[in-house]
Amino acid sequence: MNNSYSGHGRFITLEGGEGAGKSTNLEYLRGRLAAAGIAVTVTREPGGTPLGEQIRGLLLDPADTSMHPDTELLLMFAARAQHLQERVLPALRRGEWVLCDRFTDATYAYQGGGRGLDVQRIAELETWVQAGFQPYRTLLFDLPVAVGLQRAGDRGALDRFEQERTAFFERVRKSYLERAGAFPDRFRVIDAGRELAAVQAQLDAVVDELVSA
Ligand SMILES: Nc1ncnc2c1ncn2[C@@H]1O[C@H](COP(=O)(O)OP(=O)(O)OP(=O)(O)O)[C@@H](O)[C@H]1O
Ligand SMILES: [Mg+2]
Repeated sequence: MNNSYSGHGRFITLEGGEGAGKSTNLEYLRGRLAAAGIAVTVTREPGGTPLGEQIRGLLLDPADTSMHPDTELLLMFAARAQHLQERVLPALRRGEWVLCDRFTDATYAYQGGGRGLDVQRIAELETWVQAGFQPYRTLLFDLPVAVGLQRAGDRGALDRFEQERTAFFERVRKSYLERAGAFPDRFRVIDAGRELAAVQAQLDAVVDELVSA
Protein backbone atom coordinates (compact mmCIF):
# COMPACT_ATOMS: atom_id res chain seq x y z
CA MET A 1 0.00 0.00 0.00
CA ASN A 2 1.05 3.60 -0.39
CA ASN A 3 1.37 4.74 3.20
CA SER A 4 3.86 7.51 2.72
CA TYR A 5 2.87 11.02 3.62
CA SER A 6 4.55 14.35 3.99
CA GLY A 7 3.59 17.21 6.22
CA HIS A 8 3.36 17.41 9.96
CA GLY A 9 0.25 15.43 10.66
CA ARG A 10 0.37 13.06 13.58
CA PHE A 11 -1.68 9.95 14.08
CA ILE A 12 -2.82 9.62 17.69
CA THR A 13 -4.85 6.65 18.88
CA LEU A 14 -7.00 6.18 21.97
CA GLU A 15 -7.25 2.69 23.39
CA GLY A 16 -8.75 0.89 26.34
CA GLY A 17 -11.58 -1.38 27.40
CA GLU A 18 -15.30 -0.78 27.49
CA GLY A 19 -16.34 2.40 29.27
CA ALA A 20 -12.77 3.56 29.80
CA GLY A 21 -13.60 7.09 28.62
CA LYS A 22 -12.08 7.05 25.14
CA SER A 23 -14.99 8.73 23.39
CA THR A 24 -15.52 11.23 26.20
CA ASN A 25 -11.90 12.28 26.19
CA LEU A 26 -11.52 12.27 22.42
CA GLU A 27 -13.71 15.35 22.42
CA TYR A 28 -11.66 16.87 25.22
CA LEU A 29 -8.43 16.25 23.31
CA ARG A 30 -9.90 17.67 20.12
CA GLY A 31 -10.67 20.88 21.99
CA ARG A 32 -7.23 21.11 23.55
CA LEU A 33 -5.45 20.58 20.24
CA ALA A 34 -7.73 23.02 18.42
CA ALA A 35 -6.96 25.61 21.08
CA ALA A 36 -3.28 25.07 20.27
CA GLY A 37 -4.06 25.91 16.63
CA ILE A 38 -3.82 22.36 15.33
CA ALA A 39 -6.19 21.11 12.61
CA VAL A 40 -7.70 17.86 13.84
CA THR A 41 -9.60 15.03 12.21
CA VAL A 42 -11.54 12.82 14.64
CA THR A 43 -12.40 9.29 13.65
CA ARG A 44 -12.86 5.79 14.97
CA GLU A 45 -12.34 2.09 14.33
CA PRO A 46 -13.81 -0.10 13.26
CA GLY A 47 -15.44 2.48 11.02
CA GLY A 48 -14.49 6.00 10.05
CA THR A 49 -15.67 5.67 6.44
CA PRO A 50 -19.11 4.82 5.01
CA LEU A 51 -17.95 1.32 4.09
CA GLY A 52 -16.08 0.91 7.37
CA GLU A 53 -19.16 1.92 9.36
CA GLN A 54 -21.13 -0.80 7.56
CA ILE A 55 -18.45 -3.29 8.57
CA ARG A 56 -18.65 -1.95 12.13
CA GLY A 57 -22.36 -2.68 12.09
CA LEU A 58 -21.62 -6.30 11.21
CA LEU A 59 -18.94 -6.57 13.89
CA LEU A 60 -20.98 -5.15 16.74
CA ASP A 61 -24.38 -6.68 15.95
CA PRO A 62 -25.36 -8.68 19.05
CA ALA A 63 -27.68 -10.79 16.90
CA ASP A 64 -24.67 -12.35 15.17
CA THR A 65 -23.73 -15.20 17.47
CA SER A 66 -21.99 -17.27 14.80
CA MET A 67 -19.15 -15.02 13.66
CA HIS A 68 -15.91 -17.00 13.56
CA PRO A 69 -12.92 -15.28 15.23
CA ASP A 70 -11.01 -15.39 11.92
CA THR A 71 -13.90 -13.60 10.20
CA GLU A 72 -13.91 -11.02 12.97
CA LEU A 73 -10.17 -10.44 12.56
CA LEU A 74 -10.40 -10.09 8.77
CA LEU A 75 -13.35 -7.71 8.99
CA MET A 76 -11.39 -5.55 11.43
CA PHE A 77 -8.50 -5.27 9.00
CA ALA A 78 -10.82 -4.84 6.00
CA ALA A 79 -12.37 -1.82 7.71
CA ARG A 80 -8.88 -0.61 8.67
CA ALA A 81 -7.54 -0.81 5.11
CA GLN A 82 -10.42 1.34 3.88
CA HIS A 83 -10.04 3.76 6.76
CA LEU A 84 -6.32 4.26 6.24
CA GLN A 85 -6.59 4.85 2.52
CA GLU A 86 -9.77 6.92 2.46
CA ARG A 87 -9.48 8.93 5.64
CA VAL A 88 -6.38 8.70 7.82
CA LEU A 89 -3.53 8.99 5.34
CA PRO A 90 -5.19 11.78 3.31
CA ALA A 91 -5.71 13.81 6.50
CA LEU A 92 -2.11 13.31 7.56
CA ARG A 93 -0.95 14.34 4.09
CA ARG A 94 -2.94 17.55 4.51
CA GLY A 95 -0.95 18.15 7.69
CA GLU A 96 -3.81 17.44 10.07
CA TRP A 97 -3.53 15.52 13.27
CA VAL A 98 -5.79 12.49 13.41
CA LEU A 99 -7.38 11.40 16.68
CA CYS A 100 -8.62 7.85 16.32
CA ASP A 101 -10.87 6.01 18.79
CA ARG A 102 -9.23 2.53 18.72
CA PHE A 103 -6.77 1.12 16.19
CA THR A 104 -4.58 -1.96 15.78
CA ASP A 105 -3.65 -2.25 19.46
CA ALA A 106 -7.34 -3.00 20.01
CA THR A 107 -7.05 -5.89 17.56
CA TYR A 108 -4.13 -7.31 19.54
CA ALA A 109 -6.08 -6.81 22.79
CA TYR A 110 -9.53 -8.10 21.70
CA GLN A 111 -8.88 -10.61 18.95
CA GLY A 112 -5.46 -11.65 20.35
CA GLY A 113 -5.89 -11.41 24.12
CA GLY A 114 -9.65 -11.65 24.31
CA ARG A 115 -10.40 -14.26 21.64
CA GLY A 116 -7.03 -16.00 21.89
CA LEU A 117 -6.12 -15.70 18.20
CA ASP A 118 -2.48 -16.28 17.27
CA VAL A 119 -0.73 -12.94 17.61
CA GLN A 120 1.53 -13.82 14.69
CA ARG A 121 -1.49 -13.85 12.38
CA ILE A 122 -2.47 -10.40 13.60
CA ALA A 123 1.07 -9.19 12.99
CA GLU A 124 0.96 -10.54 9.43
CA LEU A 125 -2.24 -8.67 8.67
CA GLU A 126 -0.83 -5.55 10.32
CA THR A 127 2.18 -5.68 8.01
CA TRP A 128 -0.05 -6.39 5.04
CA VAL A 129 -2.43 -3.48 5.67
CA GLN A 130 -0.14 -0.96 7.35
CA ALA A 131 3.28 -1.69 5.85
CA GLY A 132 5.04 -0.30 8.90
CA PHE A 133 2.66 2.58 9.52
CA GLN A 134 2.15 3.10 13.27
CA PRO A 135 0.54 5.70 15.52
CA TYR A 136 2.78 8.53 16.64
CA ARG A 137 1.28 8.31 20.11
CA THR A 138 -1.19 5.92 21.75
CA LEU A 139 -3.12 6.82 24.88
CA LEU A 140 -4.19 3.76 26.80
CA PHE A 141 -7.14 4.42 29.10
CA ASP A 142 -6.63 1.80 31.78
CA LEU A 143 -9.10 1.02 34.52
CA PRO A 144 -10.44 -1.96 36.48
CA VAL A 145 -12.72 -4.07 34.30
CA ALA A 146 -15.67 -3.84 36.69
CA VAL A 147 -15.56 -0.05 36.71
CA GLY A 148 -15.52 0.14 32.92
CA LEU A 149 -18.36 -2.34 32.51
CA GLN A 150 -20.42 -0.44 35.04
CA ARG A 151 -19.90 2.79 33.11
CA ALA A 152 -20.65 1.15 29.75
CA GLY A 153 -23.71 -0.62 31.15
CA ASP A 154 -25.13 2.63 32.47
CA ARG A 155 -25.03 3.87 28.88
CA GLY A 156 -27.64 1.44 27.51
CA ALA A 157 -27.90 -1.71 25.39
CA LEU A 158 -24.77 -3.87 25.10
CA ASP A 159 -23.12 -4.61 21.75
CA ARG A 160 -21.63 -7.98 20.70
CA PHE A 161 -18.34 -7.34 22.50
CA GLU A 162 -19.87 -5.82 25.61
CA GLN A 163 -21.80 -9.04 26.12
CA GLU A 164 -18.57 -10.97 26.74
CA ARG A 165 -17.68 -12.21 30.21
CA THR A 166 -15.41 -10.55 32.73
CA ALA A 167 -12.54 -12.98 32.04
CA PHE A 168 -12.52 -11.84 28.41
CA PHE A 169 -12.12 -8.22 29.45
CA GLU A 170 -9.41 -9.11 31.96
CA ARG A 171 -7.45 -10.66 29.08
CA VAL A 172 -8.09 -7.55 26.98
CA ARG A 173 -6.78 -5.32 29.75
CA LYS A 174 -3.70 -7.48 30.27
CA SER A 175 -2.92 -7.47 26.54
CA TYR A 176 -3.22 -3.71 26.35
CA LEU A 177 -0.85 -3.27 29.30
CA GLU A 178 1.60 -5.69 27.71
CA ARG A 179 1.51 -3.67 24.50
CA ALA A 180 2.15 -0.49 26.47
CA GLY A 181 5.11 -2.15 28.17
CA ALA A 182 6.49 -3.37 24.84
CA PHE A 183 6.25 0.06 23.16
CA PRO A 184 6.97 2.59 25.92
CA ASP A 185 7.94 5.39 23.54
CA ARG A 186 4.61 5.26 21.74
CA PHE A 187 2.25 4.59 24.67
CA ARG A 188 1.11 6.79 27.51
CA VAL A 189 -1.00 4.96 30.08
CA ILE A 190 -3.85 7.05 31.49
CA ASP A 191 -5.20 6.09 34.92
CA ALA A 192 -8.83 6.20 33.74
CA GLY A 193 -10.50 4.85 36.88
CA ARG A 194 -10.39 8.24 38.54
CA GLU A 195 -12.89 11.08 38.33
CA LEU A 196 -12.97 12.88 35.00
CA ALA A 197 -11.14 16.00 36.24
CA ALA A 198 -8.16 13.90 37.35
CA VAL A 199 -8.11 11.99 34.07
CA GLN A 200 -8.16 15.21 32.09
CA ALA A 201 -5.38 16.73 34.19
CA GLN A 202 -3.23 13.79 33.11
CA LEU A 203 -4.35 14.33 29.51
CA ASP A 204 -3.28 17.97 29.72
CA ALA A 205 0.25 16.81 30.45
CA VAL A 206 0.13 14.45 27.47
CA VAL A 207 -1.08 17.27 25.21
CA ASP A 208 1.65 19.60 26.47
CA GLU A 209 4.24 16.97 25.66
CA LEU A 210 2.73 16.45 22.19
CA VAL A 211 2.47 20.07 21.13
CA SER A 212 5.93 20.96 22.39
CA ALA A 213 7.64 18.03 20.65
N1 LIG B 1 -13.53 9.49 34.55
C1 LIG B 1 -14.85 9.18 34.50
N2 LIG B 1 -15.56 9.05 35.62
C2 LIG B 1 -16.87 8.69 35.57
N3 LIG B 1 -17.57 8.47 34.45
C3 LIG B 1 -16.90 8.57 33.29
C4 LIG B 1 -15.51 8.93 33.23
N4 LIG B 1 -15.13 8.94 31.94
C5 LIG B 1 -16.21 8.62 31.22
N5 LIG B 1 -17.29 8.41 32.00
C6 LIG B 1 -18.63 7.98 31.59
O1 LIG B 1 -18.55 6.59 31.36
C7 LIG B 1 -19.32 6.23 30.22
C8 LIG B 1 -18.38 5.57 29.20
O2 LIG B 1 -17.49 6.55 28.69
P1 LIG B 1 -17.08 6.54 27.14
O3 LIG B 1 -18.26 6.29 26.30
O4 LIG B 1 -16.27 7.76 26.88
O5 LIG B 1 -16.11 5.26 27.16
P2 LIG B 1 -15.47 4.50 25.94
O6 LIG B 1 -14.08 4.17 26.36
O7 LIG B 1 -15.63 5.30 24.70
O8 LIG B 1 -16.33 3.17 25.88
P3 LIG B 1 -16.54 2.15 24.63
O9 LIG B 1 -15.28 1.36 24.53
O10 LIG B 1 -17.65 1.28 25.08
O11 LIG B 1 -16.83 2.98 23.44
C9 LIG B 1 -19.96 7.51 29.71
O12 LIG B 1 -21.26 7.56 30.21
C10 LIG B 1 -19.09 8.60 30.29
O13 LIG B 1 -19.82 9.77 30.53
MG1 LIG C 1 -16.52 4.88 22.89
